[in-house]
Amino acid sequence: MKKTAIFLIAICTHLVVFSQGNNYVQNYKKFEGLALTPPMGWNSWNKFACNVDEKLIRETADAMVSSGMKAAGYTYINIDDCWHGDRDSLGFIHADSKRFPSGIKALADYIHSKGLKIGIYSDAGSQTCGGRPGSRGYEFQDAQTYAKWGIDYLKYDWCNTEGLKAEGAYKTITAALRKAGRPIVLSICEWGNDKPWIWGQSVGHLWRTTGDIYNCFDCIEDHGTWKSWGVMQILDKQEGLRQYAGPGHWNDPDMLEVGNGMVINQDRAHFAMWAMIAAPLIAGNDLRKMSKQTIDILTNKEVIAINQDKLGVQGFKFSTKDSVETWFKPLEGDSWAVTFLNRSKTPKNIEFDWKNTTVDDALSKRSLNGNTITYKVRNVWTKKDEGSTKSKLKAIVPGQDVLMLVLKK
Ligand code: GLA
Repeated sequence: MKKTAIFLIAICTHLVVFSQGNNYVQNYKKFEGLALTPPMGWNSWNKFACNVDEKLIRETADAMVSSGMKAAGYTYINIDDCWHGDRDSLGFIHADSKRFPSGIKALADYIHSKGLKIGIYSDAGSQTCGGRPGSRGYEFQDAQTYAKWGIDYLKYDWCNTEGLKAEGAYKTITAALRKAGRPIVLSICEWGNDKPWIWGQSVGHLWRTTGDIYNCFDCIEDHGTWKSWGVMQILDKQEGLRQYAGPGHWNDPDMLEVGNGMVINQDRAHFAMWAMIAAPLIAGNDLRKMSKQTIDILTNKEVIAINQDKLGVQGFKFSTKDSVETWFKPLEGDSWAVTFLNRSKTPKNIEFDWKNTTVDDALSKRSLNGNTITYKVRNVWTKKDEGSTKSKLKAIVPGQDVLMLVLKK
């Protein structure tokens, strides 16, 4: 009897130790079911850099609704760098009390009350790129704080990460977010240095593929120790990455510069190409002061539908002729988006003979055979039906602009 009791105690002790041990098994898998189409929203960085406060964020949420952007599908209001104050004596992070006197929870409540979602920013290193407290060593604590505040999206940057390896560092914040229990979209922002497209699919919902975008159509901005990239330069850097994108896991060529000063043709081409490559559509302009032209671009529902297509297949460059690139993107229901991108500054005449064109996309296992199938042609910028693929396409594409079509059976 005594022996049996000792045996039972031994088994129980073993079970307790074993189950406690299991408590420390980390779950490094992201929340599934989020970002099934490329995330749409706004982020403060491109226009406001460190100049963020709660008034700006509230007004931006108001403008997202009043401008029609919410109705067009934009959801996230993301505060980028520099919202942070200090950590308290227990290590908990607090917002800058001058800039965010009501605190982030109140802001989240306000944003949620408008039917929108809120995003925040941190960094895998000791400090953010803007020199604010990073999450290194505080990952689980910060994730708890974000969950308590009601955060829906976290952009997690890669400055000041001495000695860290990207995959491991991002897995730590994924495990922390999981433990905190609130489904939060994780935006991996390590600029493509360590090929996040290879390991990122189970870790985050989108990953930056490049360094920062610069507000120009075709230029490289040299900052001395680093460079930022124009729209065309970023587009070129997406080559070879399309097989890694899909529902819940997207290549992120950085946030939009639409409305920040490029001319309308360039803004239109920028937005069109981000739609074609299934990029997250995160506006980076001042939503409170938009021209009608900017609103028209950002809220073009037919272009957005190409980006948000449920198949989630990133488009690809089919051909290049005399500075004009032809891009295709397979869409649901055997439809296709086609974009002619004129990269030069001068208008170009284009001709495209659908009937003599076969497009085979091995990735999506879709093909377009203009000889056997006739498609109806719709111009998504002019919003006009333009005949069918029975006749040859003849058009002029203005300099640094696009002709963007949807082909439907
Ligand atoms: C990095 C990121 C940017 C922005 C800044 C903030 O450069 O790539 O998108 O978040 O940091 O400091």
